[in-house]
Amino acid sequence: MDKTFDVAVVGATGAVGQVMLEILESRDFPVRNIYPLASPRSAGKQIQFKGKTVKIEDLTNFDFTQVQVGLFSAGGAISKEYAPKAAELGCVVIDNTSYFRQAEDVPLVVPEVNANRIADYTRRGIIANPNCSTIQMLVALKPLHDFATIERINVATYQAVSGSGNSAISELADQSARLMNGQPIQSPTAYPKQIAFNVLPHIDDFMDNGYTKEEMKMVWETQKIFADESIKVNPTAARVPVFYGHSEALHIETKSKISIAKARELFEAAEGVTVMDSREPGGYATAATEGATHDDVFVSRIREDLTFENGLNFWVVSDNVRKGAALNSVQIAERLVADHLG
Ligand code: A2P
Repeated sequence: MDKTFDVAVVGATGAVGQVMLEILESRDFPVRNIYPLASPRSAGKQIQFKGKTVKIEDLTNFDFTQVQVGLFSAGGAISKEYAPKAAELGCVVIDNTSYFRQAEDVPLVVPEVNANRIADYTRRGIIANPNCSTIQMLVALKPLHDFATIERINVATYQAVSGSGNSAISELADQSARLMNGQPIQSPTAYPKQIAFNVLPHIDDFMDNGYTKEEMKMVWETQKIFADESIKVNPTAARVPVFYGHSEALHIETKSKISIAKARELFEAAEGVTVMDSREPGGYATAATEGATHDDVFVSRIREDLTFENGLNFWVVSDNVRKGAALNSVQIAERLVADHLG
């Protein structure tokens, strides 16, 4: 039986799409034909995939009956319009945007946490990839939740600009260069304020309750993925002048106590987690030095909460474009094709 698949990458020229293509290639995903899709601006440009030159096609004119799997990362508006159309034509969509994440009939999957939900792709033909900050948090929390039941999560994020796409990467680089050369920055466009040498306590739209949508995604998505609406999440999301890799300070409260030694043992045994915690200068993971370009979620600075009996604190770092987006999508696709397609 032919066990290869025709795959479309929607948003193939973007910060996430480019890495999706790289990861499909490096993990040797069973691709028969690859179709990189983008806007008319990019149509006709060429990319290299597995040693072959492939033309980028205009999404608008693409015939989705040609593919069995579609990885979408071109923004919510594009997914809203094209994901259902692709799904209707028999292409299973793995959508990296937030558009379908809360839909009751669309599974929201982190393979290390709830791979069993992939089977629900049959309901709409769409599987949603969670928010980058939620993914790395839940990969780390899963073994602790299984062991001691997490009741409350306090989290502050320190998020890289690559989460906002290529234009934000350019904006940080440009502002940094100008400021280092004693020049004024141009009016920011990717963010409302200067991002170079600064921290913005704002990611995505503001909501009526004063939280940002990025913060509320961490609440909604954690409850959906853990299938537990009672789990409390108290988030603050900030954008920092880092190119790749999100960091998170996590303070959790569990039903039963987890000692530091037990937490370390649970993290070390968990799929997709690397512990780096040697309690000395540099003995911890950071976004630029460990998170970026690596697949694992790194856990450091494991401490007992000084103020709460069943509280545990730690630091979590991961590559937001890889595990937070492209890698997680490809891992979903790997399980989808192995267990359900072909
Ligand atoms: P293009 O490069 O042709 O504009 P990023 O997240 O880095 O900003 O990338 C966004 C991705 O979404 C790019 O690949 C971009 O393609 C793609 N994209 C944006 N608008 C459209 C559109 N109208 N149709 C198809 N792809 C789009």
